[in-house]
Amino acid sequence: MAELAPVKVGLLGLGTVGGGTLTVLARNAQLIASRAGRRIQVTHATARDIRRARNCPLAGVSLVEDPTQVVDDPGIEIVAELMGGIEPARTLVLKAISNGKHVVTANKALIALHGNEIFAAASKRGVMVAFEAAVAGGIPVIKVMREALAGNDVQWLAGIINGTCNFILSAMSEAGSDFAEVLGEAQRLGYAEADPSFDIDGIDAAHKLTILASLAFGIPLQFNRVYVEGIRHVTGEDVKYAERLGYRIKHLGIARQTAEGVEIRVHPTLIPARQPIAQVNGVMNAVLVRGDAAGPVLLSGAGAGAEPTASSVVADLVDVVRALTTDPGNRVPHLAFQPDTLGETRVLDIAETETACYLRLQAADEPGVLADVTRILADRGISIEAIIQLEAEHAAQGVPVVILTHAVREEAMNEAIARMEKLPALKAPVVRIRMEPFA
Ligand code: NDP
Ligand code: HSE
Repeated sequence: MAELAPVKVGLLGLGTVGGGTLTVLARNAQLIASRAGRRIQVTHATARDIRRARNCPLAGVSLVEDPTQVVDDPGIEIVAELMGGIEPARTLVLKAISNGKHVVTANKALIALHGNEIFAAASKRGVMVAFEAAVAGGIPVIKVMREALAGNDVQWLAGIINGTCNFILSAMSEAGSDFAEVLGEAQRLGYAEADPSFDIDGIDAAHKLTILASLAFGIPLQFNRVYVEGIRHVTGEDVKYAERLGYRIKHLGIARQTAEGVEIRVHPTLIPARQPIAQVNGVMNAVLVRGDAAGPVLLSGAGAGAEPTASSVVADLVDVVRALTTDPGNRVPHLAFQPDTLGETRVLDIAETETACYLRLQAADEPGVLADVTRILADRGISIEAIIQLEAEHAAQGVPVVILTHAVREEAMNEAIARMEKLPALKAPVVRIRMEPFA
């Protein structure tokens, strides 16, 4: 049988992920061609500065400054958008689609915010948009959620889905490292977003969770309904106190079906140290999915970095090449469910959710303070699982008191915290970190 011509790909972006993709495609070219059925050839690549030296194989690749030349090139069948950000990425992806090209992207911000529009345009034009690299770097979680768990009613999922946050929290726990120093290291290693506040303020994890929640529950992408908290307020003391109580603090994305609607929330979370997901450290990510049939499924692997992310980009390229000649109506739907079946399930406000909590108070060392605090909790029906008073590290900041509560509705806890903060004996705002038992 005659060998088919290579499939031509244009790369938009030659940074960490673009460079990694070229490296993996070159190193494993033969293996990849055997799996895809055709060779995959990157013919063009774009960057802001095409004169800068690049640490990746560029033989046979034309470097162009203007990305529209790539999306308009009639010879290119697949555009890989690896530049990041919303614009010009959104316009370029929509242009590529309208030109009949398939798209592979690692851009979770773009998919979370504009995926509904992009998938609708792609379905209309009969092209594929693949985004495995957008969630959890090298972990094939999109494929598992869309295909391998297709028979399940997914009850909940929880994931460490930002490598930079996990890298920072792990270093704080293992070495008591300084936040800013570890963030700098994550940036040097290519893990952090162009604007690292997206990582540490939880926005990147919220982009990824938006995508996972849609795949799990058959709802449209709704980034603006996600509750988002980052890790800036997590201190070394909280990491240490949590460990003394048998917990680890992880930055989690959690999506859960309840009788009232769907919870979609991102925040630091205390989880029992004995849980396997609590052992996932550094840049590693993990996603734990509970299906009614499969039970709990734990996926873990590198959540960021050049080659792990390239692994997902290349897997998408292979999937697209394999499906080039298939009927567009019979391809795996972008969001796992056929677009006309996406539901209206309500996304709950964080005030409607219920979690156990870790509270840390800095209290003056005087009689009656603990009695006042426990009365405030009891008045709101909040029951206490444990309460401990620790040694003061700096007398002027008061004595740390840590309280673990049983599950409580967020609204009631907000009221209790507001009331506690009015106590003259409290020296600082109350620290609240939600807990997940994964029971
Ligand atoms: P980088 O900043 O390393 O690379 C971005 C590339 O795109 C660079 O080559 C840059 O050009 C080019 N670029 C950026 N903006 C423009 C623009 N406006 N016009 C033209 N070219 C532009 O980013 P990453 O490789 O880290 O990330 C790329 C995408 O992958 C992002 O969406 C990111 O969220 C996602 N991602 C990243 C992961 C990682 O571990 N880094 C993991 C998973 C997903 P130049 O080189 O000249 O600056
Ligand atoms: N900045 C992201 C992270 C890259 O740290 O997880 C991978 O999506």
